[in-house]
Amino acid sequence: MGIDLGTTGARAIIVDGENGQVVAAGSSEYLLYTPQPLWAEQNPADWWSGTIEAVKKALSDGAKKLGKAPEIAAIGLSGQMHGVVLLDEEGSVLGPSLIWCDGRAQAQCDYITEEVGAEKLIELTANPAIVGFSAPKLIWLREHRPDQFLKAAHFLLPKDFIRYKLTGEFASEVSDASGTLLFDVANRKWSEEMCRKLEIDSDLLPDVYESWVVSGQVSAQAAAQTGLMTGTPVVGGGGDQAAGAVGNGIVRAGLVSSTIGSSGVVFAHSTAPVLDPGGRVHTFCHAVPGAWHVMGVTQGAGISLRWFRDEIAGKHEIEAAQASGTDIYEILTQQAAEASAGSEGLIFLPYLMGERTPHLDPQARGVWFGLTAAHHRSHLVRSVLEGVSYSLKDCLSLLENMGLPIEEIRASGGGGKSSLWRQIQADMFEREVVTINATEGPAYGVALLAGVGTGFWKDVQSACDSSIRINSRTAPIHANSEVYRRYYPLYKEIYVKLKPLYRQL
Ligand code: XUL
Repeated sequence: MGIDLGTTGARAIIVDGENGQVVAAGSSEYLLYTPQPLWAEQNPADWWSGTIEAVKKALSDGAKKLGKAPEIAAIGLSGQMHGVVLLDEEGSVLGPSLIWCDGRAQAQCDYITEEVGAEKLIELTANPAIVGFSAPKLIWLREHRPDQFLKAAHFLLPKDFIRYKLTGEFASEVSDASGTLLFDVANRKWSEEMCRKLEIDSDLLPDVYESWVVSGQVSAQAAAQTGLMTGTPVVGGGGDQAAGAVGNGIVRAGLVSSTIGSSGVVFAHSTAPVLDPGGRVHTFCHAVPGAWHVMGVTQGAGISLRWFRDEIAGKHEIEAAQASGTDIYEILTQQAAEASAGSEGLIFLPYLMGERTPHLDPQARGVWFGLTAAHHRSHLVRSVLEGVSYSLKDCLSLLENMGLPIEEIRASGGGGKSSLWRQIQADMFEREVVTINATEGPAYGVALLAGVGTGFWKDVQSACDSSIRINSRTAPIHANSEVYRRYYPLYKEIYVKLKPLYRQL
């Protein structure tokens, strides 16, 4: 079983250990709280009840499909990265979790950079201090929620909180630990030096495993809550990006994925901890032993389209979706396809949640540039798909400039399911974009890791080789690429010009 603790909900899937096919699945949803601009919080209790619901649904779906209760050999955990959960001595949660897209801790990032030194920080952790990561959030809590921080006995990442609820163990694994800024990414262990410099007690930190290694067993209490069997092994798993990459077979040099979920990520496998001295991309441990990954992150990818759906899409689209029984995203992308490449000069900057790659700027904001009365809703929605893709192109260009080999780009995530969005990416990247047979991303990746940890496959590469095939290929359309080649510099220039103005908002 693979369990993915996403930003919008939890998903559990059951994968056949013989052939790698997905047998059954279950999902749940929970809320994201944004009590003020820059803040993003979730309630760990919601994560746990969402996980219980997803697991139960997957088990009953499996029972229906198999005609008997599925036998779960092992579980892998994946989840949104960087979030901070503090627990007291008794293991009780001390407050809401500040999650990956929370941008409140800029002052704490400045403090970390000052205290450690910008270069030293990259030397120790392979990454710069950015608001997304965990350490600045921990320090924000120390400063602003001392009542919680002083009682804290454990710090856990979101999916590791689920591991704690399932097994009672305080444990993490290398890929997710990499996103805390307290981890020595090159040597795959906690950085005592970072803890010392930031005066964070290293006793707060969980044990850390390689991603395929068994980290604990399902407890009797969790078994009663979820329907899982007591004693089922739980492997390390992975942060959603590393796990999703395993689920996409990005386990060898030359393979790259472009994933549009809530965030958007261009991810390259690497055989060494390659660094961007500017820290604009993240260098983290991969969920594959002895490998690292480099990724560029667009904060507001799927989030931009969801915002469009919720705030801009009208009654007309909602009714059309209801009448035809079609997903509203399908209706929106059909509408987008009516506009031509470049959206007739309408450019969208998808910085609704600030931006990481390449700007590392939590104060960046969304923009529509070039709007005229001649534009229709089709242009608006197409420009959103294009703006997100421009941002992914920023990520891809950086990886290319770092010398990482790019032989094949695999599109995935919700956005990868849209043929139009894939076409836009192929046209902008001026490269073929492929899809694979496995579409479950992170949950699938950690199910494969669970299979590796319990002997179904000999290693992560073999698990991927025996399960993953190319399904479709999208070639760039030359005429569209030309349009995007013309607009891309403008897209980049808009941010540069607006940067000082954002600070006045
Ligand atoms: C990765 C990142 C996101 C979150 C949520 O650095 O912040 O991928 O994990 O998906």
